[in-house]
Amino acid sequence: MCGIVGYVGNSSGRVNAGHNALDVVLEGLRRLEYRGYDSAGVAVVADGRISSRKKSGKLSNLLDELEGSPLPDSLTGIGHTRWATHGGPTDRNAHPHLADDGRLAVIHNGIIENFAELKQQLLAKGVVFASETDTEVAAALLGDIFRNQLKGNTADGGLAKAMQLACQRLQGAFTLLAVHADQPDVVVAARRNSPLVVGLGEGENFLGSDVSGFIDYTRKAIELGQDQIVTITAGSVEITDFFGAPAVGKEYTVDWDPASAEKGGFSSFMEKEIHDQPDAVAQTLLGRSDLNGRLTLDELRIDPQLLKKVDKIIVLACGTAAYAGLVAKYAIENWCRIPTEVELAHEFRYRDPIVDSNTLVVSISQSGETMDTLMAVRYAREQGAITVSICNTNGSTIPRESDAVLYTHAGPEIAVASTKAFLAQITAAYLLGLYLAQLRGNIFSGQIKDVLADLGKIPAKIQKILDSATELRELARSMKDEKSVLFLGRHVGFPVALEGALKLKEIAYLHAEGFAAGELKHGPIALIDEGQPVFVVVPSPRGRESLHSKVVSNIQEIRARGARTMVIAEEGDEAVRNYAEHVFYVPETPPLLMPLLTTVPLQIFACELAAAKGYDVDQPRNLAKSVTVE
Ligand code: AGP
Repeated sequence: MCGIVGYVGNSSGRVNAGHNALDVVLEGLRRLEYRGYDSAGVAVVADGRISSRKKSGKLSNLLDELEGSPLPDSLTGIGHTRWATHGGPTDRNAHPHLADDGRLAVIHNGIIENFAELKQQLLAKGVVFASETDTEVAAALLGDIFRNQLKGNTADGGLAKAMQLACQRLQGAFTLLAVHADQPDVVVAARRNSPLVVGLGEGENFLGSDVSGFIDYTRKAIELGQDQIVTITAGSVEITDFFGAPAVGKEYTVDWDPASAEKGGFSSFMEKEIHDQPDAVAQTLLGRSDLNGRLTLDELRIDPQLLKKVDKIIVLACGTAAYAGLVAKYAIENWCRIPTEVELAHEFRYRDPIVDSNTLVVSISQSGETMDTLMAVRYAREQGAITVSICNTNGSTIPRESDAVLYTHAGPEIAVASTKAFLAQITAAYLLGLYLAQLRGNIFSGQIKDVLADLGKIPAKIQKILDSATELRELARSMKDEKSVLFLGRHVGFPVALEGALKLKEIAYLHAEGFAAGELKHGPIALIDEGQPVFVVVPSPRGRESLHSKVVSNIQEIRARGARTMVIAEEGDEAVRNYAEHVFYVPETPPLLMPLLTTVPLQIFACELAAAKGYDVDQPRNLAKSVTVE
């Protein structure tokens, strides 16, 4: 989730007070560091030209570079912190990218889905590319339009006109910012599916991927809408659509303090990341299927013939990531008919597992640095397995040591307790399962298209759950002094129960345990005492009727013994009402996709209860975000 900053000031703006564009931009990038990144860069317009510097690694590397090779003072500048998607985190791939003989600089957040096709067209025109990024293709397209189609004419909108024409040809999600040496007092930006806000100053104006980028200078903001272009100068803000028609953004005043602005106004990163989940799922799906509903996982780069011979899948992970694997198991076995085992990585390599060249080992890791998982992947590779990493951190160790990687695009997950990465991991694992099924012909293309369509509806369904959580939050706060909470689930609801228990354990320090509902009578029901809180994740009544009725019976059994029953059920499921003290409904969705919805109330419950206890939900005691020791 890249950080973006743009600035234009004039003599009555900050520049007079000794600030120049570079200072404003660097301060904005510093405020946006929380978004996570692996390279940073800036560009300013001064003395009739563009001057830029960019470095991989942290902002400090860029500052060192600027120390040794300073930029001229300027009134106009842009800056970027990159979270690598296309192309690794290198100096070359860092933004800004230049075009039009270095007279144009562009920064970008998002994914240009048709960059390959555009790159071919530009290569045919003789354009030479310096990086592997989709951003450089967008910059080259913009430069080609400005120079060759508009003949560099700045009278009729110039860069803004070129941006309109370029955006008409771009597909995917993008926020683009551009500056041109021929128009030194202008920054032009465009947004589709990726955030961008304008900051309104006195004799100066700002752009940011969120208000953190300029909150030190102004709290008056305009949120841009979909498919809009904004041109800022020191004294003006002009918004149009992609075809030049006037448009308007949503003006508002930021009431967050700078510190909370980094959390998007939420009280914690965990709360923010729970609310990031619609976007995390959408971004993980983006660009991975074509208009005919076929998977296009080009990034996997494994010989399809090898994948067709796979006769066993082993998923390796730890903690929440392992529960994502457990969810995926149900879907992958259903779609691909390949035996799929889910192993805790730290157990796997010490049990002399049966692995060979027809075994596909899928590791799941948010950080890509979990030592237990890394060592298990190394062991699997030594045994000849094909290894694929599902990972949220570009360029981290586990993907580097795997044959292929399928990145989740959840954006950096700051809170120790994993939430958005979990849903993104499940989404990526579904995509991998569908890809294997498509490759091996296990299911018809029509079915794959239907599943992808259902997945495409998940972000809005998650948002609906997030928007209707008031009663759940009140319940969580009322239970802050509970000593134990149990979680029951069946089928894909079982790993959700395990994950709900883990969330409560790790941030509220509460005894919590997840069980397969069918296991209840084999022992755990002895734990049920008067007033024992139990969450029950109920399968869809539209799924296997026997599963639903069995779990409803489980609810009756524990209620008869005094349990407080909190039920997560599908909208329309009235059968559960009679036995539940509280019912929290999630929108209807195909049974295999339900974990993407039923997990969310359990995340909210744990976060709210821990906050009610006054705990630091982002940095819980004894835990690290990435366990890099065995
Ligand atoms: C989940 O909330 C925990 N932070 C922990 O279980 C985590 O999922 C596990 O350590 C694996 O981390 P990884 O995804 O970075 O490999």
